[in-house]
Amino acid sequence: MRLFVALALPDDIRWQLRLICGGLAGAGRWVPPENFHITLRFLGEVDGRDSEYVDAALAGIRAPRFSLRLKGVDAFTSGQRVKSVHAVVEKSQALQHLHDKVESAVVRAGLPPEGQKYTPHVTVAWPKDVSLTKLQHYLMEHSLFKTELFAVTHFTLFASEMGSEQSVYTALRSYALSTPVDEQPAEKRVSA
Ligand code: 2AM
Repeated sequence: MRLFVALALPDDIRWQLRLICGGLAGAGRWVPPENFHITLRFLGEVDGRDSEYVDAALAGIRAPRFSLRLKGVDAFTSGQRVKSVHAVVEKSQALQHLHDKVESAVVRAGLPPEGQKYTPHVTVAWPKDVSLTKLQHYLMEHSLFKTELFAVTHFTLFASEMGSEQSVYTALRSYALSTPVDEQPAEKRVSA
């Protein structure tokens, strides 16, 4: 099974992301709204037993819920080639913290470490033939793209399969994040 751990996005944020899916000639494949996500960790091919270890390790993560915002657009390039275009996730210590916990859990489950700096994003296009000039134009045009804050209350283990045109993602299990103590009803708080 090809697996990845990610944050699903609320419907209204998906809707706003659709506004930046266009106006890039040669963009080829735009990601359909149901596939928008923020990857926390790509796991690749994982066999049945290892996926159980990963699931158990992810279920053991304790981290608080938090809010995020998407702000700006950017792209991953390699030389002259535009590999993918994405919405940028505004810097968030809470997201980095959750990513680090997921990374530790995955390694504890026996998978190799990622070893690359985490750059959170939402991929919106996998271009086939976009020049850097066209890309600059597109990035300028959408430079003010910004969503409101949205709540992140859980993260999800997804399976990915190749469909005829697009990948098909299936949510296998979601893991809840906890409510920060100062947001819990008073009767639930433990007094010091
Ligand atoms: P991204 O869009 O956030 O970059 C599911 O396949 C998701 O895993 C993709 O949308 C991509 O996330 C990420 N992914 C796929 N192949 C990958 C790879 N070889 N290395 C890192 N991430 C990958």
